[in-house]
Amino acid sequence: MTSDTNTAALLALGRERLLPVYKQRELILARGEGARLWDSEGRDYVDFGAGIAVCSLGHCNSELNAALIEQAGKLWHTSNVFYSEPPLRLAQELVAASRFATRAFLCNSGAEANEAAIKLVRKWASDRGRGPERRTIITFHGSFHGRTLATVTATAQPKYQQGYEPLPGGFRYVHFNDIHALETAMASGDVAAVMLEPVQGESGVIPAAPGYLQAVRALCDQHDALLVLDEIQAGMGRTGSLFAHWQDAVTPDIVTLAKALGGGFPIGALLAGPKVADAMQFGAHGTTFGGNPLAAAVARVALRKLASDEIVANVQRQSHALRAGLAAINTDLGLFAEVRGRGLMLGAVLTPEHAGKAAAILDHAAANGVLLLQAGPDVLRLVPALNISDAEVADGLVRLRGALGAFVRS
Ligand SMILES: Cc1ncc(COP(=O)(O)O)c(C=O)c1O
Repeated sequence: MTSDTNTAALLALGRERLLPVYKQRELILARGEGARLWDSEGRDYVDFGAGIAVCSLGHCNSELNAALIEQAGKLWHTSNVFYSEPPLRLAQELVAASRFATRAFLCNSGAEANEAAIKLVRKWASDRGRGPERRTIITFHGSFHGRTLATVTATAQPKYQQGYEPLPGGFRYVHFNDIHALETAMASGDVAAVMLEPVQGESGVIPAAPGYLQAVRALCDQHDALLVLDEIQAGMGRTGSLFAHWQDAVTPDIVTLAKALGGGFPIGALLAGPKVADAMQFGAHGTTFGGNPLAAAVARVALRKLASDEIVANVQRQSHALRAGLAAINTDLGLFAEVRGRGLMLGAVLTPEHAGKAAAILDHAAANGVLLLQAGPDVLRLVPALNISDAEVADGLVRLRGALGAFVRS
């Protein structure tokens, strides 16, 4: 079979055999190295999407590979009814790195970490004698917390919820970055937690305004509510510090992680501070696969590398390079109203004239050998590997300029 017919056959399988819940581009990725990918036809791409902010150390990082292979030769899975060393060490390392948590719950994905956070909040409130009507969790318009029924309900975006009613109760939505709206929403005294992303990812890369998280923390303290930070996309170095909230100088009660933590191997984590860490006892929650030795062995290496000064410095360096490159492109093409975000979580917001065209631009990008993401219909999202090199950024920007030029001409 030639590569052409193989590619066509695989694309046909995608169309016919997967639930069509995604709209993949018409290519088959076959191999990756650093921030580069190759498809089944041998074409190469600069990867500014990193598997939706997951491949934090690039594709096939040699140290992650070595950890995976070493662990694969020892022990793959035990379930959580037995201990093994990698998840125990990882829990200790996450707790130590977090500067606030005393316990961790390991799981397999972001949605599962947030689902655990929602259950932990309710359990904590229940232990304090609060009935179901006083366990409300506040989340924010434009947020994204996952696709399970509870996390999609926490996700205050109707497009993800429609058709799945009845949705679980106990959530209230408030406008992001509006502290007065939150104050009003908490005044009824029935709120058990406020849950938010330090930088909203999916809805357009929108950072919390300066001082906002501190004001949210103060309201939580005033109303005996927990502060839950979803750092699934913004955490693990992406915004320029290992934990995104360090830049906001707040102490959360719960933080959820996934994506970058495994560098491409599925893993999620919930970190719980002293106020809540003991609310769940034997039998209260569980997972068969969560924190299995393979995932934990990889995540231990990823965590060590993501916490390094080298990564922090590279995130700053490449953030500046990307912003400068996008500004230069914009001087010539005038496509972006602004570029916002923090570190290597950047959103280029299309001007009103080009609103709604992010998906069309992504097609041009792929055709020009650069892969990026959208964050809603109006924002191009760049979330590359945190160890992306100068050369990869420069090459990606050249390709992006070509793609955007083709889009303007189309
Ligand atoms: C902030 C945030 N929370 C939760 C999730 C859900 O994670 P997962 O897709 O691993 O379930 C995502 C995924 O994009 C996310 O960006």
